[in-house]
Amino acid sequence: MNERRGTVPEPRHFRDVLGQFPTGVAVVTALDPDGAPVGMAVGSFSSVSLDPPLVAFMPARTSSTYPVIADAPHFCVSILGADQEEVCRAMATRGADKFSEIDWFPAPSGAPIIADSLAWIDCTPAWTHEAGDHLIVLGTVDQLAELRPGPPLVFFRGGYGGFATASLMAAPERDIVEPIRLAGRARSLMEDLAKELDLECLAVGAVGEQSVCLAIADSPSADYIPSRVGYRTPFVFPVGSVFVAWDPARTALWLPADAARAAGGEAALRRVRDRRWSVATGDDHYDDLERAVGQLLIQGQDDDGSLGGVMNALRGEQFDPPLEPHTTYDVRMLMAPVFGPHGVELGIAVRGFRNHLDGAEIEAIGARLIAAADEVSRKIGGDATVAALTPSTEH
Ligand SMILES: Cc1cc2nc3c(=O)[nH]c(=O)nc-3n(C[C@H](O)[C@H](O)[C@H](O)COP(=O)(O)O)c2cc1C
Repeated sequence: MNERRGTVPEPRHFRDVLGQFPTGVAVVTALDPDGAPVGMAVGSFSSVSLDPPLVAFMPARTSSTYPVIADAPHFCVSILGADQEEVCRAMATRGADKFSEIDWFPAPSGAPIIADSLAWIDCTPAWTHEAGDHLIVLGTVDQLAELRPGPPLVFFRGGYGGFATASLMAAPERDIVEPIRLAGRARSLMEDLAKELDLECLAVGAVGEQSVCLAIADSPSADYIPSRVGYRTPFVFPVGSVFVAWDPARTALWLPADAARAAGGEAALRRVRDRRWSVATGDDHYDDLERAVGQLLIQGQDDDGSLGGVMNALRGEQFDPPLEPHTTYDVRMLMAPVFGPHGVELGIAVRGFRNHLDGAEIEAIGARLIAAADEVSRKIGGDATVAALTPSTEH
């Protein structure tokens, strides 16, 4: 359809047209003067500014709950998950005892956080502006946190739904436009792989001396903290071997100065080239790394240098170790290289393993990853076979 004639905004039409724009659903809460919780469901919640941290929502002038929120010293925003439609309905019912069946706990300010929501944002009201039959309310963010992974509740064309796309693609920041284009070629294969193996599948690119998570296909029954598109990790030994193993210049920078550790690193890179995949196995520090990266994403900065500290503590021997077929391992991630005309352009990785795997099972998943990565290599004009045989520096 190419309808070029519009009509003037008559209420029903206005709602229908604007209903084409999907929103998440949040609940704005506060305590009334007696200390009882009040709340309202809003689709108009939005992030506004990072510096200073500001958010906004738009209450209707007719709302009976908003005046109570306006009088409170703080309000809290809880972001609802796809399984919280009932909470949304309760919070959208005028005049009801909205919290009679809703669990909550206090945010640092005391304002209620809806239990089991995806995330909460604790705010101090900053500014209010009249806007027709609504108000625009700006709040300063005091504290915020994520509570659990999961798809959000989505409101679209007057109905509730979930977030249905099988994979997420990073937003095109300037330095990753080209890697994102390449990752786009891998997307349907990644979705197939995530379904087939019931694992999270990632496309990871190299930008300068960092790896960047470009695209994610969720496993159908994800129960891990999901990876983030856009998340960057520096290539610091022992992380990033797939991007180092076929690149002599990077290898020289990556190997640790200590001779014994460097020899271990070279042996690990040889194994990566022979296998054509890399593997990270269990290490407490790996959990710390994921936590530090998560923190970094939430806070947007690494003030205490925790990421660098954690990366230095990662033990090399648990990255790309020799594997015994009948020994079991706590596998964190497996990654295979995608070769373009200029060497390794992407890594296709899987994570979210629920069980420990033995060496033979890891090999089988590795073989499946190679097949997928080679298919992408062919699509982007690389020759996996030739590249994989490229001799390395230390020969
Ligand atoms: C998905 C959804 C989104 C909503 N978004 C808003 C909103 O942005 N602003 C608003 O004032 N009301 C919104 N509402 C309506 C209020 O949640 C609710 O009807 C109202 O707060 C209940 O009346 P009360 O404020 O008098 O308690 C939304 C309702 C739903 C179901």
